[in-house]
Amino acid sequence: MVAKPALRILIANGVNLDLLGSREPDVYGTQTLDEMNRDIEARWAEVAAVSKMPAVELHFFQSNHEGIFLEALDAGWDGIVINPGAWTHTSLALADRIKGLNVPCAEVHLSNIFGRESIRRESLCSSVVVGLVAGFGAQGYVAALFSLVSTQLTSRPQPLPSRR
Ligand code: DQA
Repeated sequence: MVAKPALRILIANGVNLDLLGSREPDVYGTQTLDEMNRDIEARWAEVAAVSKMPAVELHFFQSNHEGIFLEALDAGWDGIVINPGAWTHTSLALADRIKGLNVPCAEVHLSNIFGRESIRRESLCSSVVVGLVAGFGAQGYVAALFSLVSTQLTSRPQPLPSRR
C-alpha cells in the first residue's frame, strides 16, 4: 500500500512575534519564538503519537513585512495555523487573502485578546478562519493544530456545530 503524503501545515506568526521572549513577558511569556516553535513541534509529536493523527509536516514562518507574510500563506499548504499579531486588528488585506486562499486556517493568540484593550477585542480575521484559540500561550497552537487536522483534514467525518 502506498502511504499518503504528509499534510503540509504552516504555522505562521506575524508582526512582532519575533520579539517573543523579551516582549512583555507578563503577557506573552518568556519563550523565544524559536523555543516556542520547538515546543510546539515536541508537543505535537506527543499528541500525534496517542491520537491516530495523519502524518503532518510542520513548517514555521514569521515576518514583520505584511506583503511577504501574505505571500507565504500561498504555497499550497493543506492548512494554516496563524497568529497575525497586530495585523489581526488592522489588516483587511490579510482577511481577504485568507478568504481567497480556500485553505482552512485556525487563528491563534497567545493572550486572550477578548479580555484586553478594546482595540484588541476585534479580529478582522475571525470571520474567515475556521476557528480561533486565544489565551493559552504556546499550547494554543497545538490545540488549534489538533482541531484543524481532526475537523478539516481527515477523512473521518467530525460533527461540527452548525453556524448560526
Ligand atoms: C497577539 C495579540 C495581538 O493583539 C498583539 O498585537 C500581538 C500578539 C497574541 O498572540 O496574543 O502581537 O496576537
